[in-house]
Amino acid sequence: MEIISGFSKLSKSQKLAWLAEQVADNKEEFIAEFESYLHRDTQVQKLYDEFSENTLTNFYMPYGLVPNVMINGKLYAVPMVIEESSVVAAAAGSAKFWLERGGFKAKVIDTKKIGQVHFLWEGDFKKLDVLFDELREVMLDNTALITSNMRARGGGIIDIDLVNMTHIEPHYYQIKATFETCESMGANFINTCLEEFARSLKDWMANSEHFVGKEKEPLVIMSILSNYTPECLVRAWVECPVAELGYFDDMPPELFAYKFSKALMIAKNDPHRATTHNKGIFNGIDAVTLATGNDFRAIEACGHTYACRNGKYQSLTDCSIEDGMFKFWIEVPIAVGTVGGLTSLHPLVKKSFEILDSPNAQELMQIMAVIGLAQNFGAVKSLITTGIQKGHMKMHLLNILKHFDASETEVKYAIEHFKTNVVSFRAVRDVLDSIRVKVKE
Ligand code: MEV
Repeated sequence: MEIISGFSKLSKSQKLAWLAEQVADNKEEFIAEFESYLHRDTQVQKLYDEFSENTLTNFYMPYGLVPNVMINGKLYAVPMVIEESSVVAAAAGSAKFWLERGGFKAKVIDTKKIGQVHFLWEGDFKKLDVLFDELREVMLDNTALITSNMRARGGGIIDIDLVNMTHIEPHYYQIKATFETCESMGANFINTCLEEFARSLKDWMANSEHFVGKEKEPLVIMSILSNYTPECLVRAWVECPVAELGYFDDMPPELFAYKFSKALMIAKNDPHRATTHNKGIFNGIDAVTLATGNDFRAIEACGHTYACRNGKYQSLTDCSIEDGMFKFWIEVPIAVGTVGGLTSLHPLVKKSFEILDSPNAQELMQIMAVIGLAQNFGAVKSLITTGIQKGHMKMHLLNILKHFDASETEVKYAIEHFKTNVVSFRAVRDVLDSIRVKVKE
């Protein structure tokens, strides 16, 4: 691979030609394959191209649907974008299961978001603390124009605090602001306000008669929103009498509930299990996040930090069995937007919102939390009953068969064969080889 400068300035076909030159034996075939995934409508393709930089083509992911999701008495079909097999099936299975037991309930606890200006300042904290009300007013005044639309929608800056961080590092302080961003995820809004706070801080200190010498010169390190939003929190839950859980194959409901609660206990106490447990939850949340054009990295990062809020990494879901009632719930921070970003640009994101009946941000938080809970219920249910491999292997088998270009007849034969045999790459290859040899004979 050669170094190249000015790659971003090349046209898409020049970029592809350069790459083909670098890596492909058959350059024409290589380029044609990339181009085969471009959208037939050049205007739509232009849209996709402009979401990011140095775009060569589109990367396809399955867009699936989970029907029968009852939340607070309203029925949804939830779109999910995910490449992993069994995830959509598990969510759909849980949705159906709980539909027959009253559905999911969900409630947004709060929607506050946070941003920080980190700065170093060599001065007397007590003096700054006393004068901070004045600085807060200056910051609010200087951001009044930026926040006017958001305030009209019921949001804006909720609070601005000064935080003394000198126990961590000499001279280190923060301006910590809380925001309400209504229907938008609000990253641009928050960052614009924070950068204005930083400018205001510098001007105010430079011009204040209360400060002298170095006190007039704060060193702003950075101004950036925090993706940790523990106060942008949603709760979702299901409950039913233990007896109504029904039988899981031969397992009676009491044993199912008992094993389920022990699985949750393990995920509360063992970070190794908690990580896998929460990964399963994010299989669900991320997939809805992607389908609705939101930022799954932000939501995941936040969820994992929240999972550590008690000083050790723990499960995001919990369960109880009291007075014969089985209760299972999730509490998770989810910062999403239903306007701005990709939400009004990506054609399939627009379709997702149509399918979800145009939810507002709070409703979307609830849907995501429910799908996370549904996913987790499905995963734990499999783990404590049949084991996870049964479902996984069915999909895995189909993928391996695809890999070997199996014909329809071969697929049918293999599915029958592997009902009673263990699936592995080698076993599938051997079965196909044996059929193919027989056909040749
Ligand atoms: C696989 O992607 C997710 C699970 O491992 C989650 C879990 O173990 O709870 C099935």
